[in-house]
Amino acid sequence: MASINIDLARKSGSIDRNIYGGFIEQLGRCVYGGIYEENSPLSDEHGYRKDVMAAVRDLRTPLLRWPGGNFVSGYHWTDGIGPVENRPPQMELAWHSTESNRFGTDEFMDYCRTMNVEPYICVNMGTGTMDEARTWVEYCNGTGNTYWANLRRKNGHEEPYNVKYWGLGNEVYGTWQIGAMTPEDYVKKATEFAKIMKWTDPSIKLVGCGDTGWKDWDDIVIPGLAQYIDYYSLHLYTGSDDYYSNVLAPALADFALESSRAIIDRARYNQKIEHPIYIAYDEWNVWYRKRAAETALEERYNLSDALAVSSFLNSFIRHSDTVKLANLAQMVNVIAPIFTSPEGLFLQTIYHPLRLFAEHMQDIALDIHVESESLPFTQEQDKSPYGFPFASLGPFKILDASATCDASGKTVTIAVVNRHREQDLSTTLKFADNVTIESAYAYEVNGDNPNSENDFEQPNEVSIQEHHLHSGEQDITYTFPAHSLTLLRLQ
Ligand code: AHR
Repeated sequence: MASINIDLARKSGSIDRNIYGGFIEQLGRCVYGGIYEENSPLSDEHGYRKDVMAAVRDLRTPLLRWPGGNFVSGYHWTDGIGPVENRPPQMELAWHSTESNRFGTDEFMDYCRTMNVEPYICVNMGTGTMDEARTWVEYCNGTGNTYWANLRRKNGHEEPYNVKYWGLGNEVYGTWQIGAMTPEDYVKKATEFAKIMKWTDPSIKLVGCGDTGWKDWDDIVIPGLAQYIDYYSLHLYTGSDDYYSNVLAPALADFALESSRAIIDRARYNQKIEHPIYIAYDEWNVWYRKRAAETALEERYNLSDALAVSSFLNSFIRHSDTVKLANLAQMVNVIAPIFTSPEGLFLQTIYHPLRLFAEHMQDIALDIHVESESLPFTQEQDKSPYGFPFASLGPFKILDASATCDASGKTVTIAVVNRHREQDLSTTLKFADNVTIESAYAYEVNGDNPNSENDFEQPNEVSIQEHHLHSGEQDITYTFPAHSLTLLRLQ
């Protein structure tokens, strides 16, 4: 028996819908053959896959990060504008392929407009110069009679794109990155990029390049860049073939958010910084199987991965005062919820929690208290290939949950992951006030077993089942099935 205690007066933060953001990188079949496939019968006149657009729309994606990822650290954006036939194919050294440059800034902006999503561009701090970053801002946002704004006009785009979010480089700390640096060198270089980009358009929001949130890099870069940045990025990939190592590892997101929040608070206090600095979790997901470029990162997801993704989302809701932007890496084919072939697509298991959270979670996060037994998971059982000693963050309760309500307090939604592999768990939802529930729905993501996957032949092995519950009651008792996500919507 377990309980979830809900007090509508205990509001813990307002949720920014940008936490449901996506990410497309010029890598493998994410852009080419994913969102963009010219001359396909499934595409519109611009080359955008219509079936993919429909699936993305159902995810209610508010924001899209582009063009990388590792790719951006060797990308010269001017190669991707102007008449397509004049664009130079280039060697692509992040993933060792060839970049045709058929999809560039104008195509990305056009896609964002069509999909009604906010663009988020990460600049090249590897082979790229300050001037390239600055002129990219001017090309996108310039309103004056200047060369780069006029070039955008000449390319058929009279109105500025008003790109608000700009990332200062990608994973600059990693040896795998083109142009990797020490944190001290990054602070120096990023400061100069930040100044000139903001002078070009003072309205933009800058995202500093963070590591996991608990590394020495973060200790140096956060105070070093605090004056200039509005967001600080974190990246986290988890995963394991071992069920519990897989579903419990997103506890690292809680740790990362609390750890980086503390560094930000200290930097803002010490430096008397008045503007807020939020976390942009601009790459997160389960990713451990298809690591190599040769497999084009085409990870296939099972039910346990969907549970891990649900716990990431729970963590973002629980820390909604800290994390105001997040991008699932990535959107299509490459470590992605949507998987295409030239003939169609199927939705991977991880698609379903993303859809449920974006559709049902409300604007205000609630500080709920969960009482449930813990799972007996120790350091020795941790089979995660990443080497982050996350078991020390335990004990881990069987239930992982987050809750939200709307401004009137009339709609309450609770996302509950029952992480037990075998046991269903009967749970009482206890409300602090006398709340009478008029209607209650449960949306469940589950499958035969934690290894269940979807594919082209069996696309619905893991899907969303909807149940209508009894209503007119004050407390509700609900049994959360083993290895499931349940999103309860109460009104
Ligand atoms: O999302 C795949 C890759 O993971 C990105 O290119 C990089 O930023 C990260 O290492």
